Amino acid sequence: MDTYIAKVNYNNPEVNDEVFVKAASIIQNGGLVAFPTETVYGLGANALDPIAVKKIYKAKGRPSDNPLIVHISEKDELYGLVDCVSEKAKKLINFFWPGPITMIFKKKDLIPMETSGGLSTVAIRFPKNKTARYFIKKCGTPIAAPSANSSGKPSPTRASHVKFDLNSKIDMIIDGGHSEFGLESTIIDVSGNIPCLLRPGSITKAMIEDVIGKIEVDKAVFGKLDVDERPKAPGMKYTHYSPCANVIIIRGNAENVIKKINYMTEKNSDKNMKIGVIATKQTKSMYICENIIVIGDRNNPNEIAANLFDVLRKCDYLEIEEVYIEAFDENDVGMAIMNRLKKAAGYNIIDV
Ligand code: TXA
Ligand code: MG
Repeated sequence: MDTYIAKVNYNNPEVNDEVFVKAASIIQNGGLVAFPTETVYGLGANALDPIAVKKIYKAKGRPSDNPLIVHISEKDELYGLVDCVSEKAKKLINFFWPGPITMIFKKKDLIPMETSGGLSTVAIRFPKNKTARYFIKKCGTPIAAPSANSSGKPSPTRASHVKFDLNSKIDMIIDGGHSEFGLESTIIDVSGNIPCLLRPGSITKAMIEDVIGKIEVDKAVFGKLDVDERPKAPGMKYTHYSPCANVIIIRGNAENVIKKINYMTEKNSDKNMKIGVIATKQTKSMYICENIIVIGDRNNPNEIAANLFDVLRKCDYLEIEEVYIEAFDENDVGMAIMNRLKKAAGYNIIDV
């Protein structure tokens, strides 16, 4: 049976109260509801119900050692779920919540091991998106939610992406339009002495350091780890964000990048392979490829971030087999863009 999709007014979710009554009843009965947030769509279940949470792993095809983020609708709910909130964590909470930053704390026993992927810590997020908060509040329970994609695919930034991946596997999708930021939340582990960035997002390292001083960055953020190394966020070890196409990043000065991409397009077109190029507004007219997908304005990293997963999904829609994409600077939001892009490319980067 097709999954039920309900459109809501994302500025005034209360006008669609009946949608949230239905969604809350699904959650309270152990079902799964996908909902919009300011980062990407989440696939929600009652975070305190291990049987409901197991359904998330099954629907996504997600490995059971990859913990879920628990979403709350009021700041103070945090204290009922976790132990030891440090002074630095309190500063971050006051400064950035509600917003796209997830924090990791020591968990209390009422968080089931199914939710925390067997860890003694738990990730907590207080989203800013009004629809997300209205939904969580209506459910009356914290909501465990990973991104609402099939495991390994790009995270969904539209209800149609969720439907494409999970139709008939989940009970309901709340359609609240396009996700504002388009990349998943920043994750920072505040359970130890020195806070450590595990996943970059739109709240950048510099923004965090302005509030609490120097932090560490997990090595997995920048590149591929050696076989005997483990990322601190278990999810960062899996291949991710990949369209079916082979993704190759070309990095260097603009002129060389364009030359190289045109050379590769010409060379590989002979092989009867459908080639695509992900270009920026600045470079779209410079490529010889027939399939150009424009990701946005190079000078506007927030626009690039918001469109990245959309563009990767478009490659599948166009049945592209190999796609070339220009690299971006790794500063600020660029750190998050390149982190997702490198994973989508399986770290396949050509420097020119
Ligand atoms: O923006 C977001 O964070 C979205 C929306 C729906 O809120 N959610 C999201 O969830 O991206 P997910 O499951 O796709 O990514 C969560 C990441 C995974 O890499 C997971 O391993 C890590 O967070 N994580 C969760 N709990 C953790 C913990 N206790 N310790 C370390 N990493 C944790
Ligand atoms: Mg995910």
